[in-house]
Amino acid sequence: MIPRILRHTLRFPGRSLLSLVMAVICTSLVLVLPGITMRFIDVIIAQNRPDLILPTAGIGVAAILARQLLFSLRTFFNNILELKLTHLIRLELYSKLQRLPVKWFDVNSSGEIMSRVADDVPTMDRVIVEGIDQAFAAILQFLIVIGYMVWFSWRLTLVVLLPLPFIAAITWWWSRHSEKKWRASSEASSALNALLHDHLSGIRQIKAYTVEPEALHDFGQASLQVGEKHLTVMRGQAVVWPAVSFIAESGIILMVAFGAWWALHGQISPGVVISFLVAWGFLFDPISRINPLSQTFSKGVVAAKRVFAILDMPDESHLTEGLRPSTIQGEIRFEDVSFHYSEDSPAVSHLNLTARPGQTIALVGATGAGKSTVLNLLTRFYEPTSGRILLDGVPLEDLSKEWLRDQMGYVTQDNFLFNASLRENLKLAKSDATDEQIWSALQSANAADFVRALPEGLDTVAGERGIRFSGGEKQRLSIARALLKNPPLLLLDEATSALDNQTERMVQQALENLRSDRTCFVIAHRLSTVQKAHLICVLDQGKLVEQGTHQQLFAQGGVYRKLSEATLTTSTTKEPIP
Ligand SMILES: Nc1ncnc2c1ncn2[C@@H]1O[C@H](COP(=O)(O)OP(=O)(O)OP(=O)(O)O)[C@@H](O)[C@H]1O
Ligand SMILES: [Mg+2]
Repeated sequence: MIPRILRHTLRFPGRSLLSLVMAVICTSLVLVLPGITMRFIDVIIAQNRPDLILPTAGIGVAAILARQLLFSLRTFFNNILELKLTHLIRLELYSKLQRLPVKWFDVNSSGEIMSRVADDVPTMDRVIVEGIDQAFAAILQFLIVIGYMVWFSWRLTLVVLLPLPFIAAITWWWSRHSEKKWRASSEASSALNALLHDHLSGIRQIKAYTVEPEALHDFGQASLQVGEKHLTVMRGQAVVWPAVSFIAESGIILMVAFGAWWALHGQISPGVVISFLVAWGFLFDPISRINPLSQTFSKGVVAAKRVFAILDMPDESHLTEGLRPSTIQGEIRFEDVSFHYSEDSPAVSHLNLTARPGQTIALVGATGAGKSTVLNLLTRFYEPTSGRILLDGVPLEDLSKEWLRDQMGYVTQDNFLFNASLRENLKLAKSDATDEQIWSALQSANAADFVRALPEGLDTVAGERGIRFSGGEKQRLSIARALLKNPPLLLLDEATSALDNQTERMVQQALENLRSDRTCFVIAHRLSTVQKAHLICVLDQGKLVEQGTHQQLFAQGGVYRKLSEATLTTSTTKEPIP
């Protein structure tokens, strides 16, 4: 995992190399202090050379200054590197999210995905920056200091190294052991995020059902979980690192004791012992950094696994590749199409259906009958489990999804608006639309009047999920959006359900104009909406049970007739049904 993370640095080879070089120079400069100390003792004091005090001290100060200056530069450059990497990976992750199939979003909560993009990416990138900067510098510093020590006394160096195997063993064990704990901690934070996102989206429901105390309790539980999981890691740290420090620091006493003994026997000079003492600080400085570094690494590896899990998901197939016919007639044929979201319950089964170019096909049926699912199959948000759908005789799976979706205007059942201005929301359908075209689409959707009445007009921001507008207003805006696109295929899912009868009639008229020469699938509960369709298909539990025109089906006296009669008695529509 770590090599894969570090490979990202290759995208900025110049900057990474610069970080590396600065780390090397900065680290080499640590030798100046022990070197100078030894010179003071063994040359200046032992040989009585007061004239050397000033130049030696000067060299020392200059080296320390250079080291600190380089350190500042290093910090500065490393932060830029981190920024660039984070931005790049975040962009990659977002673009990957756009290429994942709709199905994936059914099972992954938005809050959790958000925490991966927002938190996991920077956590993972800390590994890169600290990896180059701190870990590399630490290893280098360690080696340089050891080299220096071996040069002056290999025997004393061996004594210095004595505690190391113990420290290595403890650190290795802990880093393996703590990864699980870090993962649990990270998952708990994601769960907290997911819950918060869910609760904020449903804040109106929470208030309306006065379940604030329960919601608070759930949130409290999730928050406690985060704390507890974090605490299990910290408990381990609290024991492990003092133990490491104890072993390391006991080493000093050992070193000085042996040093003193050998100095007494004239085997090494006192300057070497003192110089080892100074160097020891630099030797164990990397070791003391193992703790924060291992934290960063363990957290980073967990985060990276979560990020790579998304990056490694297969893309939605045929998104860009596939046929892109230059003309389109608009014939759509379902050939024995079946589909189920989960194993046990088929949402659509053995559907056979043909829409000729320019025809309007109405899908009716009880709630949950599978109507929206049929449209989801047409847009290829989901792929049929068996059977196939053809557009102008070409199976949908041979077409590029991008091209296919470009041919469609889809008014979804939930009339989603983005938290952006109305203009931006409408321009989703046609990025180069002029205000004139926008107003004309709004006019046709019978939405121009209320938009004009808004103080900020087209610049009005829709609020999260379009909360600023009423259901009927959102519906008309969604219709305007589809009208603006002016596509060859039109999919309307309950596009007029939230309108009052008068508005519905007006919008209906606009939709009829729009439908005139294009193939259109309409879903409606209010059957008054679908009477003029060329073909009405009645779905029941995913099966096509009746099809024909309004007159035929009404005369047939089956499910459709029952549905129409029910609509007649419950709806306020007083339209005569023959
Ligand atoms: N994303 C999904 N994951 C799992 N099951 C789903 C999903 N969407 C719909 N279903 C199930 O598939 C069946 C058909 O749903 P569909 O949305 O097509 O019904 P519908 O006819 O459009 O109903 P309505 O008139 O209420 O909009 C339902 O039983 C529903 O519970
Ligand atoms: Mg539906």
